[in-house]
Amino acid sequence: MQPIKDVLRGDILLTGVTGFVGVVTLAKLLRHAPHSRVFVLVRPGNKIGARTRFETVCEQNGILFMGLDIARVHVVSGDMTACDKISAEDVATLHNVTTAIHCAASTEWRSPLPELLKINVHGAVALFTFCLTHLPKLRSYVHTSTSYSYVV
Ligand SMILES: NC(=O)c1ccc[n+]([C@@H]2O[C@H](COP(=O)([O-])OP(=O)(O)OC[C@H]3O[C@@H](n4cnc5c(N)ncnc54)[C@H](OP(=O)(O)O)[C@@H]3O)[C@@H](O)[C@H]2O)c1
Repeated sequence: MQPIKDVLRGDILLTGVTGFVGVVTLAKLLRHAPHSRVFVLVRPGNKIGARTRFETVCEQNGILFMGLDIARVHVVSGDMTACDKISAEDVATLHNVTTAIHCAASTEWRSPLPELLKINVHGAVALFTFCLTHLPKLRSYVHTSTSYSYVV
């Protein structure tokens, strides 16, 4: 079996980095994929930009990122349910992405079903379609299974 650092040589797109699974995945990638840049898709808040949200995540998880090269992480502002609104400038930066790792989901299990379907089903499809359309060097796509993944 090839070491992970030899498999993950190109750029990586990661979703869900403000969440539990995503932030740990980011730390793992920084540690074990030393040749890759990691692009993280983060949705902006009402009054706070995606980059600031990511910086807060870094501050809150200082121990996790200790000794790791955070400068290899690049923030892409966007919501996976509206991938068509990701700026052309950000899309261009994703040109060399070879691996996409999708960890984003709604885990608010008590949300109304239409909201859960919007994110976990239609959002997942939208993100996959975005990757197939805009990442010409994509070789692998990892989907984290979640509730309602198998609805369609
Ligand atoms: N935690 C576990 O032990 C575990 C076990 C098995 C499977 N899983 C699965 O792993 C996945 C992640 O779980 P988690 O515990 O990390 O969940 P989490 O802590 O609730 O994180 C969810 C992440 O998804 C992002 N997200 C939600 N909607 C989005 C959207 N429309 N566009 C972009 N990003 C969006 C959230 O961003 P915001 O900050 O913007 O909301 C957050 O970063 C889920 O599918 C879950 O079912 C988790």
